[in-house]
Amino acid sequence: MQDWSPFQSVIDERLSDREIRLWMKRDDLLGGPASGNKIRKLKYQLRQAKKLNVRTLVTFGGAYSNHLFAVAGLGQALGLDTVGYVRSSSIPKNKTTNQLRKWGMKLIPLDRELYRKKEDISFLRDLQEQHLNSYLIPEGGSSQLAMPGIQEMVTEIREQCPTQIDYFVCPFGTGATMAGIAAELRYDEKVLGCMVLKGLEPKEMIRRFLPAESLAKTCHFVEAHYGGFAKCPAEVQSFIQTFYDVHGICLDPLYTGKMMKHLFELIDLGRFPRGSVIVAIHTGGLQGTAGYNERFGINLPIPKEILNLYEEN
Ligand SMILES: Cc1ncc(COP(=O)(O)O)c(C=O)c1O
Repeated sequence: MQDWSPFQSVIDERLSDREIRLWMKRDDLLGGPASGNKIRKLKYQLRQAKKLNVRTLVTFGGAYSNHLFAVAGLGQALGLDTVGYVRSSSIPKNKTTNQLRKWGMKLIPLDRELYRKKEDISFLRDLQEQHLNSYLIPEGGSSQLAMPGIQEMVTEIREQCPTQIDYFVCPFGTGATMAGIAAELRYDEKVLGCMVLKGLEPKEMIRRFLPAESLAKTCHFVEAHYGGFAKCPAEVQSFIQTFYDVHGICLDPLYTGKMMKHLFELIDLGRFPRGSVIVAIHTGGLQGTAGYNERFGINLPIPKEILNLYEEN
């Protein structure tokens, strides 16, 4: 379904001072609407949907959601109808929702109270009755079936990395990406989840996908929300711009920008032993940068492919 994504060495003086070797797994370059962790998480769910021969994919997300973007784009490519329940009292007009409609996704607003029920059995049963012959995908594509796709990414990295890895680093939203990585780790490897939302209970969240025994050994969590999920303060914006100027890599304001900023802060603080080998996962999310720029009147770097897509609208 997708080719391997590139594996790129990041050379930076902040790293060389401490003899840290850093690589990025460039899943953002996988291309198409589901670049980043989305294609990894959705691959086996879509395979299952195809197997069940459903006509419609039904899922959930916010008004700038990377996940809705991925499902709408993949649904159109696969010839499936798509329905997106949007966490909002009405559907806002923005670059993301415009593109979702363009791909034919039917958007239905769900106020915050109802949205909270999106995992209740009775709510899901009602949805299934309303959308006959459909396949329900949880918010963020985060289900047990997301695991094998993420695990495949780790297998790719092992083939691509010339040396033994000490730490994997990823953004943490629902925890599914981190759980998939942890499920595939070898005894002496660790994964660091950078929590981009306030007030999460990461261990409980991870346990939904991964048995408790694997947790303590391998999983570490840090807060990297910089004021809250939808916030991207000036210090993060300026990190994203500088990272792009120096390395030519676009980072998004909500996930990967915060992860990389926090990772460099931890390195500066000496939290990683000298000589550590770190692999940071670029989980994509760059479609969201366009909407973020528009909303806040800023100009964070965006890949050409995404600019072109939005300019067609
Ligand atoms: C770009 C991006 N990175 C990281 C994440 C967090 O992944 P997870 O929800 O699996 O923790 C998300 C949300 O799914 C995302 O859109």
